[in-house]
Amino acid sequence: MKLADNKATLSFSNGSPSIDMPVYSGNIGPDVIDVRKLYADSGMFTYDPGYLSTASCQSGITFIDGDKGELLYRGYPIEQLADKADFLDTCYLLLNGELPVGQQSKDFHKLINQHTMVNEQMQFFLRGFRRDAHPMAVLTGLVGALSAFYHDSTDINNPEHRHIAAIRLIAKMPTLVAMAYKYGLGQPYMYPQNNLSYAGNFLRMMFGTPCEEYVVNPVLERAMDRIFTLHADHEQNASTSTVRLCGSSGTNPFAAIAAGVACLWGPAHGGANEACLKMLGEIQDSGGVAKVGEFMEKVKDKNSGVKLMGFGHRVYKNYDPRAKLMQKTCDEVLKELGLENDPLFKLAKELERIALEDEYFVSRKLYPNVDFYSGVVLSAIGIPVNMFTGIFTLARTVGWIAQLNEMISDPEYKIGRPRQLYTGSVRRNVQR
Ligand code: ACO
Repeated sequence: MKLADNKATLSFSNGSPSIDMPVYSGNIGPDVIDVRKLYADSGMFTYDPGYLSTASCQSGITFIDGDKGELLYRGYPIEQLADKADFLDTCYLLLNGELPVGQQSKDFHKLINQHTMVNEQMQFFLRGFRRDAHPMAVLTGLVGALSAFYHDSTDINNPEHRHIAAIRLIAKMPTLVAMAYKYGLGQPYMYPQNNLSYAGNFLRMMFGTPCEEYVVNPVLERAMDRIFTLHADHEQNASTSTVRLCGSSGTNPFAAIAAGVACLWGPAHGGANEACLKMLGEIQDSGGVAKVGEFMEKVKDKNSGVKLMGFGHRVYKNYDPRAKLMQKTCDEVLKELGLENDPLFKLAKELERIALEDEYFVSRKLYPNVDFYSGVVLSAIGIPVNMFTGIFTLARTVGWIAQLNEMISDPEYKIGRPRQLYTGSVRRNVQR
């Protein structure tokens, strides 16, 4: 970050002296006002619940331009990565800053493929859960437990430990997600098969059984890989900020990532595609495309409490670029599976068409987000709704690790410790 030409001056209406604060510029995006000395200089804190105007860190990993609808990983547009790189190349990019070339790519794929198996003892740990436990509850526990199973890589301040933990997490997450799924079904776990691609291996561990050979469908494999790439990182969102805050205390890397898994579980974050699919199902049950107009009237009526799920985003005030790629993936998957006439997909397209022309949505800059089509694709692939957030967890793990590494390596890194505006009782004495 570099000092901008201008500075910010904060003045007070009560005659207190005004305060100058430095302004820093990044490479793109808004400048920031450095308020770190504000408390020392004025005795006041800033107040910004929900971080609407607060940059919590400097970062060189992911950039979002919400007005343009642009998402860059290390400077590369998501559209180009989705077309020209696979998920593991994207992981390498997020972790190391550059795309792997030639042998680097092969070596990284091999490294990840060689660490896909989990400690055999993990399955006994898993057995302690109820069979009907939510997969995200199970995953939060499993990821946290990795620190106990691999205690040679728990020192967050040791770059070698962080590297080993990163490789293990990326490699083992598909195995853990598939184990959580199989456990709920009561089917045997499938051991990873390392000659398959990352996405192919995951599909086999999810849908294969020991009774028959599982042949990976290349269209579904490509779709799965692209879904992972689209969800790999999204700058300082709630779960990433959770991982940073948790890791800032020096806790071990597996514990910090487990905190991210717990945060992602929430319906306002990772659970939105589930809500979108439920909405499409309800419209379908009430009469399908013929009822779209009626549904849209409810969405526009503030008193109805109904929202068009999969539309709108805190940051994107234009088409979420991931939504376009997801729609394309949806087309490819449904065609491959002979589901082109899938009623939910048709319904989604009709809702999108109407919303993009409607004054209510246009004036509020509400566009489809990544969740609008991802639920349709995932369920066409055969992933049950309660596993959707687990897929997101698998994909986002690399982003969490890259951001954690960046934080630890930042010379300005400190334990995260927000302040507050106290509104409780003032000092009083216990009367008894
Ligand atoms: N349907 C109908 N109206 C909407 C929608 C929607 N999906 N989203 C926003 N609006 C309206 C709001 O009612 C508000 O209207 P008003 O100005 O007349 O009061 C206006 O658009 C602005 O909306 P805010 O809620 O202020 O926008 P905010 O940035 O706080 O919320 C959010 C973003 C939470 C994503 C919201 O758009 C939403 O609830 N969308 C549906 C849920 C969803 O798809 N979430 C997934 C997000 S992507 C992700 O997490 C991976």
